[in-house]
Amino acid sequence: MNQVDKQIMETGVVPVIKLENPERDARPLAEALCAGGVPAAEVTFRAAGAEEAIRRMKAARPDMLVGAGTVVSAYQVDLALEAGAQFIVSPGLDVDLVQYCQEKGVPVYPGCTTASEYQAALKLRLEVLKFFPAEQSGGLAKIKALAGPFPQFKVMPTGGISLQNLGDYLSCPVIAACGGSYMVTAELIGGQNWAEITRLCRQSREIVEAVRK
Ligand code: 3PG
Repeated sequence: MNQVDKQIMETGVVPVIKLENPERDARPLAEALCAGGVPAAEVTFRAAGAEEAIRRMKAARPDMLVGAGTVVSAYQVDLALEAGAQFIVSPGLDVDLVQYCQEKGVPVYPGCTTASEYQAALKLRLEVLKFFPAEQSGGLAKIKALAGPFPQFKVMPTGGISLQNLGDYLSCPVIAACGGSYMVTAELIGGQNWAEITRLCRQSREIVEAVRK
């Protein structure tokens, strides 16, 4: 486990963010997440200019853990790292991309949901994997089944996580943290509803703490 793995595990939830207007929203969003006790973010390259959002969130809250998501090329890894990203998440397992991140010394969490992908991840000496898309790929039942032959991995499920199932996922010891967009939806960000984002983060943290008590 590296320091970033540990920070992610400690926070328990990682907001998956798509920021269309980083100039306007990066700073207040970073403040809103931190105010809700979730000083962590996966900023996805689904929106152009994700590197700008990463840069601005880090500038606003240097204490926050900010990573890049939906990273599918070495070029995006470079953009993310230049902007200050502290971890890289990709939707699938791309061996070249993982090795590139390892050469750069940045933690990388590739999406894996099958025994073959877990086996490839083992070869790459990974310890924490993204499990994506979680609910659509079999959810907690599949995560538990894969933990049989592969007990060495911790996983970070994303895709279909909500306040309703967060507790179930987190109560499984294989789960490092859960990722999701439910506390940072396009509506909430578009409407600059920072108070609601803080409230949803706080509620998520209460679930994390209740499960880990
Ligand atoms: C991701 O990119 O990790 C997921 O799309 C997040 O899934 P969600 O929107 O269902 O939370």
